[in-house]
Amino acid sequence: MNVLLLGSGGREHALAWKIAQSPKVEKLYIAPGNAGTASLGENLNIGATDFEALKTFALERAVDMIVVGPEDPLVKGIYDFFAGDIATRHIAIIGPSAQGAQLEGSKAFAKEFMQRHNIPTARYLSVTKENREEGMTFLKTLEAPYVLKADGLCAGKGVLILPTLEDAGYELDAMLSGMFGQASDTVVIEEFLDGIECSVFVLTDGDNYKILPVAKDYKRIGEGDTGLNTGGMGSVTPVPFAGEEFMKKVCERIVEPTIGGLKEEGITYKGFIFLGLINVKGDPVVIEYNVRMGDPETESVMLRIESDLIELLEGVNAGNLDGKELVIDPRAAACVILVSGGYPESYAKGYPVTGLSLAEASDSIIFHAGTRMKDGHVVTAGGRVIAVSSYGETKEEALKQCYKAAGMIGFEDKYYRKDIGFDL
Ligand code: AMP
Ligand code: GLY
Repeated sequence: MNVLLLGSGGREHALAWKIAQSPKVEKLYIAPGNAGTASLGENLNIGATDFEALKTFALERAVDMIVVGPEDPLVKGIYDFFAGDIATRHIAIIGPSAQGAQLEGSKAFAKEFMQRHNIPTARYLSVTKENREEGMTFLKTLEAPYVLKADGLCAGKGVLILPTLEDAGYELDAMLSGMFGQASDTVVIEEFLDGIECSVFVLTDGDNYKILPVAKDYKRIGEGDTGLNTGGMGSVTPVPFAGEEFMKKVCERIVEPTIGGLKEEGITYKGFIFLGLINVKGDPVVIEYNVRMGDPETESVMLRIESDLIELLEGVNAGNLDGKELVIDPRAAACVILVSGGYPESYAKGYPVTGLSLAEASDSIIFHAGTRMKDGHVVTAGGRVIAVSSYGETKEEALKQCYKAAGMIGFEDKYYRKDIGFDL
């Protein structure tokens, strides 16, 4: 079959790596891809949200399946666009309908959904300019610190955690006055939850589900989880505290009511569900839903899926995921992200990346996150540049190998965290 993968980051390189291993795949196209995905398939000069151009290409090249990496095309309705067109509805789209994608596209929608289906999440109130006073009253019922979330998509920047009531009131007004544009016309005020986080990935056909390896990501730029939030600095899988007992609670209290709730509400969902969870004294609580795989979790999670991913995705599309086998590699896997100096604030691009073949010849798998080809050389093209992923019998071993390979790769102002996995 012919597969078209959408996106251009490390997550997409890792997905492409796994998809390309399937004997079922004849041609793999990536739109737009990066310098790394170009070695596994054909990169297209088409953006992931250019639905008309994707349709034309998919029909011309007889694409059978579209795997959607990032949330943007999903929230913009790519599923409905293809499913609602007689010419393209035979193409499998791996990802939810626009309505399903609201679980990530609107935090207020996600909170209301969880409330309707009794799914454990932090206490909250949705606030607009109209009920700002009610918002202030609700804030006073909470204890510090205070959590404010812009309702809409903000590329991971829409959450503020504030130490005092005064700061919270000030920032609430700033958000309602357009701090994040329209995305913060509605703000979700939330109770602060204390605990350790993990990312649970669920693959569903709308009825049945499989739980992929659980991972933890490291979002802050600085060691010890300090400094600014980034797109992610590394990940590890498995997560020791997400054992059998914890995962049983996750399935019973969160996964099943989520899939059941979507079905009950007539919302089409065939794809990945990413649960951002926090472990509050042994009980899983939902921090957020995402409607795609995580980045940089995918760069470690894909290593541990032994089964043919395409076979599983065919099950997602056909509604017979229960008949498919998911075999998980018992080893640990880890990923360390190499970023451009200055990231997540301003940084330079276009520096040559050296040592890639050396690192690839080691026991690591090198995924490109932000690179492009310039005069036959790989150069930096983003804040997050390279994801170095490795297996190990333990997470320590996997990380040791990641750091060995990370040292072989060079570019101007390279930076990476040396403490990934420190808190587990
Ligand atoms: P989100 O975009 O909803 O995942 O939020 C970004 C980050 O903010 C999360 O990964 C958490 O670290 C933190 N966070 C969000 N909501 C809460 C909460 N209610 N309590 C504590 N931390 C939170
Ligand atoms: N690693 C978090 C995310 O992909 O949103």
